[in-house]
Amino acid sequence: MSVPFKFSFHIEGQCSKTQARAATFQTPHGVFETPRFMPVGTLANVKTLTPDQLRETGAQMVLSNTYHLHLQPGEEIVQKAGGLHHFMGWDGPMLTDSGGFQVFSLSEMRTINDKGVTFRSPRDGQMIHFSPERSIQIQNALGADVIMAFDECPPYPASWEEVKASTDRTYRWLERCIAAHQRPDQALFPIVQGGVYPDLREDAARAIAQFDTPGFAIGGVSVGEPAHLIEKIVKVTTPLLPENKPRYLMGIGTYREMVQAIAAGVDMFDCVIPTRLARHGAALVQGERWNLKNNRYREDFTPLDAECPCYTCRNFSRAYVSHLLRSREILAFTLLSIHNITELVRFTSRMRAAILGDRFEAEFGSWLTE
Ligand code: GUN
Ligand code: ZN
Repeated sequence: MSVPFKFSFHIEGQCSKTQARAATFQTPHGVFETPRFMPVGTLANVKTLTPDQLRETGAQMVLSNTYHLHLQPGEEIVQKAGGLHHFMGWDGPMLTDSGGFQVFSLSEMRTINDKGVTFRSPRDGQMIHFSPERSIQIQNALGADVIMAFDECPPYPASWEEVKASTDRTYRWLERCIAAHQRPDQALFPIVQGGVYPDLREDAARAIAQFDTPGFAIGGVSVGEPAHLIEKIVKVTTPLLPENKPRYLMGIGTYREMVQAIAAGVDMFDCVIPTRLARHGAALVQGERWNLKNNRYREDFTPLDAECPCYTCRNFSRAYVSHLLRSREILAFTLLSIHNITELVRFTSRMRAAILGDRFEAEFGSWLTE
């Protein structure tokens, strides 16, 4: 039986002009300093990186996915390995997403009703059923430090009535997730849904905030709605979530969206952007995206970013990365992933330092107005 853990969240500094805060979140696998970007390791690995390489990016918490790990290799194998941390060789904080969101976006969906979701496995065609209870059982077996409630993420666009029905279902599922959750050494985060409708977001946030869970998430954003609505949704939601608990904005990881969310009081982010861009040959450099396959880099012997402390920037040139990409060498993806993750983690940790010195508005305010 697992030993209870106190998931404490300490706010260490607060911006005097916005809702931004700097904090620490204690997990059984160490401290997570917020605000901070979390890289995605869908199948128990951050694509093309070893855990040592990942640690050197400054990443503290890593994400994995219930949906993918259930399909392959299956949670029994991960559990036999001693849990996700042992299985993948990452001893820092981990988080698993609950699977619902991935079922909706990745598989041929058969049915969704109050019981759960039934879908066809893209691996072998078998029918699989996920319910709130099943998702929590799987996440209990995987053993991440933070696990997510099983939610329904409505598509965009969807009518108020459709989103209302879906948000009510997510609430009923949350009650079942909390009842099914067996491990007091794992923090279960509820997820606020409600689409682009402020009244539904507010109702959902108020309802969910009643639960004494160690943290809260905002889901259902970046699903096709216009970008300005993300900020609006976050701004109506965060004031209704408990001040003294971490707030996690799911699936968000662009510069501007993170600055806006942090200004609204969000602490945690995840996104596949840095690793996906790397596999497309793109580098994130000081707020821009560069295509390293471009001819202009062929004889450019400077680092990707002379100010970046990452392994890639310390040791290699743009010309070398460009050469690897043109030659289709896998090392290109590793070097770009190292840099891109470092860049986003560093961007959020610079915001953390600015909040602690009450310089957040002065240093990052331009991202809020442009
Ligand atoms: N990842 C990105 N958005 C969501 C969401 O709304 N729900 C879940 N479970 N995961 C997500
Ligand atoms: Zn770098």
